[in-house]
Amino acid sequence: MGNYQTSRRLAVSDGRFRYILREQVSNHTVQEAQQLSDDAESSLRDLHDRIRVCRLCHLCETRRSAVPGEGPVSAKIVFVGEGPGRQEDLEGRPFVGRAGKFLDECLQSIDLRRDQVFITNIVKCRPSESSVGWARDRKPTSEEMSACSPYLETQLELIKPELVCTLGDTAKSQAFKRFHIEDDSIGHVHGRLFLAGSMKIVPMYHPAAALYDISLRQIIMIDFQKLRRMISQTKLTSFSNPESSR
Ligand code: URA
Repeated sequence: MGNYQTSRRLAVSDGRFRYILREQVSNHTVQEAQQLSDDAESSLRDLHDRIRVCRLCHLCETRRSAVPGEGPVSAKIVFVGEGPGRQEDLEGRPFVGRAGKFLDECLQSIDLRRDQVFITNIVKCRPSESSVGWARDRKPTSEEMSACSPYLETQLELIKPELVCTLGDTAKSQAFKRFHIEDDSIGHVHGRLFLAGSMKIVPMYHPAAALYDISLRQIIMIDFQKLRRMISQTKLTSFSNPESSR
């Protein structure tokens, strides 16, 4: 029987609802640990249901579907992008367009499957602007990011990942601001490990950047190899052999 100690405090505020969940747990059995994990899974599901009907900012007016994110609540790594694009908005799933295909390739290159990690974005609805008769993606505004940030905070509280990989400049700057790390350009910080308390942050280039600048493809692939080394050093052993966690 594995005994362990954990203490968790979760505070969520999205402006319309607020609740505080406290868990002080000690000397729990494996069964109780399983119960905690089931609770976290169901809280994550509830949170995603709320996100799907969220009207906290005006992005809800133009979305087809909100994109809460996907992956197991037990994920040790969370990838955070900027915001859903056209294809993600259509499907309600993160990183399913061209950038997502490249992200899948990068994950495969280090023997990770998509269903072993949690993938989400800073904003959960597509930021777009009209351009000669069609909608094109744009960066989320600071108001949109602030309105949405309690959702990401809560996802991280529930998942408790060992590593957070930010994808692109916007996600990197948000994470650095949140964890009081001095900001720097993505060109300087990509592929490096930053410690913020118990949180480990690895900023990466956005996979979409490689679609426009082919030289970044190789750099991103190298950063994923560095990530593989960090994973093995952090002893996230469940990732070392994809077959073992099926
Ligand atoms: N770009 C992002 O930042 N997120 C997605 O989900 C898709 C593309």
